Amino acid sequence: MGEVKINIRFLRADDFDAIVKIDNKVLGLYRPEYYKLKFEKLVQSKDYVPTSLVAETENGMVVGFIMGELYIGEFGISQEKATLDTIGVDPDYQRRGIGKLLINEYLAHLKKLGVEKVNTLVDWDDAKLIHFFSANKFSPSKVINLERTL
Ligand SMILES: CC(C)(COP(=O)(O)OP(=O)(O)OC[C@H]1O[C@@H](n2cnc3c(N)ncnc32)[C@H](O)[C@@H]1OP(=O)(O)O)[C@@H](O)C(=O)NCCC(=O)NCCS
Repeated sequence: MGEVKINIRFLRADDFDAIVKIDNKVLGLYRPEYYKLKFEKLVQSKDYVPTSLVAETENGMVVGFIMGELYIGEFGISQEKATLDTIGVDPDYQRRGIGKLLINEYLAHLKKLGVEKVNTLVDWDDAKLIHFFSANKFSPSKVINLERTL
């Protein structure tokens, strides 16, 4: 596996197709509607603060992304918390540190904006993702997610 030079930049509206494709490759799901809603919320909201990132190769091919939310309120940043909703790296480019690079850039940027904590939800059965987040210094929070089946 050769070295690839990776550039991290903010997500743009025209990354839509690349992200739907990577998501399809990593999760085996085709869900353009889900990403359409996310993009509308992220790129078109007037309160949107750019935080979501993509990883691209030297020739501009998007091979990974990280998406989360942070909104500024009336008096500047009202929350010290942000979320990390989705992360994905093209299977052909995994295990080369791209996921780590995306997380580090994402967190460094949020820290500069005054964010003190980032939350993410992970399926208890998804050992690979839990391992990845653990390797990136995420740990279980004291708040637990309650649910009731209806
Ligand atoms: C999780 C994911 C983003 C990791 O991307 P990546 O670029 O391969 O990650 P990195 O190369 O930065 O790996 C960092 C560390 O995470 C851990 N890790 C990553 N993939 C792993 C795997 N398959 N099994 C165990 N540990 C893993 C390792 O500790 C790894 O460090 P190492 O390679 O030095 O051992 C990628 O595997 C992915 O897109 N998975 C599917 C995403 C998903 O399920 N998203 C759901 C919505 S959140």
